[in-house]
Amino acid sequence: MNKTIALISGANQGIGLATAGRLAREHDFHVIMGSRNADNGTKAAQQLQSEGLSVESVQLDISSDESITHAAEYITQKYGRLDVLINNAAILIDGPKGNKVIPNITTRQLFDLTLSTNVTGPACLTEAMTPLLRKAKQRPCIVFVSSRMGSLAESLNPDTPFYKSDYKSYDASKAGVNVLTANYARILGADMRARVNSVCPGLIKTNLIGYMEAGDTPDRGAQRIIEMVTLAEDDETTGTFSDRWGKIDWGTSMSVDQITKNLKGGSSLSVSGLDVFPSPVLFSLCFPLGLGARQWHVSSDLGDSTASSGADVIY
Ligand SMILES: NC(=O)c1ccc[n+]([C@@H]2O[C@H](COP(=O)([O-])OP(=O)(O)OC[C@H]3O[C@@H](n4cnc5c(N)ncnc54)[C@H](OP(=O)(O)O)[C@@H]3O)[C@@H](O)[C@H]2O)c1
Repeated sequence: MNKTIALISGANQGIGLATAGRLAREHDFHVIMGSRNADNGTKAAQQLQSEGLSVESVQLDISSDESITHAAEYITQKYGRLDVLINNAAILIDGPKGNKVIPNITTRQLFDLTLSTNVTGPACLTEAMTPLLRKAKQRPCIVFVSSRMGSLAESLNPDTPFYKSDYKSYDASKAGVNVLTANYARILGADMRARVNSVCPGLIKTNLIGYMEAGDTPDRGAQRIIEMVTLAEDDETTGTFSDRWGKIDWGTSMSVDQITKNLKGGSSLSVSGLDVFPSPVLFSLCFPLGLGARQWHVSSDLGDSTASSGADVIY
C-alpha cells in the first residue's frame, strides 16, 4: 500500500465520517474507519466506497481493550504500519443544566463514563497503535480531536457561547485530551519525530450536539484535522491546540483581576479575593515574586468554595 494510511476512531458518522471522505477524496489517503458498531461502520464505508474512495471499516470500540487489540492486530497483519491516527470518537452526555441526559445517572457515573470514553479510550488506542506508527512510511501524525471547551482560558471567557452551560465532565475530559496531546507530542516527538496536535473542529451540526442548527457542516469541522495530518515532512507543528481560525489558548495567563471581572460579569458567580499579607509593604515585595498567598472565595448557586493562590496567575 503506497497511500498514506490513516485510522480514525468514531468514523461512522459526523466529523469522523467527513474527515474520512475528505482525506480519501482530496488527499488520496487510505482510511481505516473505526466504528464501535460494525454494521454502521460497514454502511458508512460502503457509502464512501461507492464514490470510488479507498476506505474500509474496522470494528473499534475505544472503551474495550479487546476491540482495540483486534483492530491493531488487523492493521498489523494487513499493512504492518500506520501513518496517521485521528482520535476522534467521543461522547457528550452532560445536560446543559447538569447530569440529565441519561436518566438517573449519578455524578460519579457521568464522570466515569465521559472520562473513560474521551480520555482513557484515546490513550489506550494511541498506546496500542504506537508500534504501528513507529513503522510509518513518513513522520507519523496524531490528532486528538478536542474542544475549545477544554481550554482553561475559554472556561473563564464570558464571550464563549457555552459560558453559562454546565458541561463539567465533557470540559474536563477535553482538558485531559489536551494534556494527552502535550505528553504524546513530547514523548513520541522524541521517540519517532511524530507530530501530535489537538484540534477543535468548531461548532458542528452532528449527533453530539443534537444537530444544533447553529452548527457548521461536518466537512468544515474536518478542515483543521485534515491540515494537521497533511503536514509537510519538514513542518514542525506539534504540541499545539488550534481550530481552523488559528491558535487556541489551552491554559490561561489571565490575571486574577481579569478572571474576577469575567466571573462577576458573566454569571451568577461572585468572587472575592483577600490578600493574606501582614502589611502592604510585604505584599508589594512578595507578590510580584509569586511569594505569599491570596485567598479566593467563590460563591454561586452550586455552592461556596475557597481557594488559595500564590501568584498573579491562579493556574
Ligand atoms: N460537534 C461539535 O460541535 C463538536 C465541537 C467540538 C468538538 N467536537 C469533537 O468532535 C469529535 C467528533 O464528534 P462529532 O460531533 O462528530 O460527534 P458524533 O457525530 O456524535 O460522532 C461521535 C463518534 O464517536 C463514536 N463513539 C462514541 N463512543 C465511542 C466508543 N466508545 N468507541 C468508539 N467510538 C465511539 C460514535 O459512535 P456511534 O455512532 O456508535 O455513537 C460516533 O461515531 C468528538 O471528539 C467531539 O468531542 C465536536
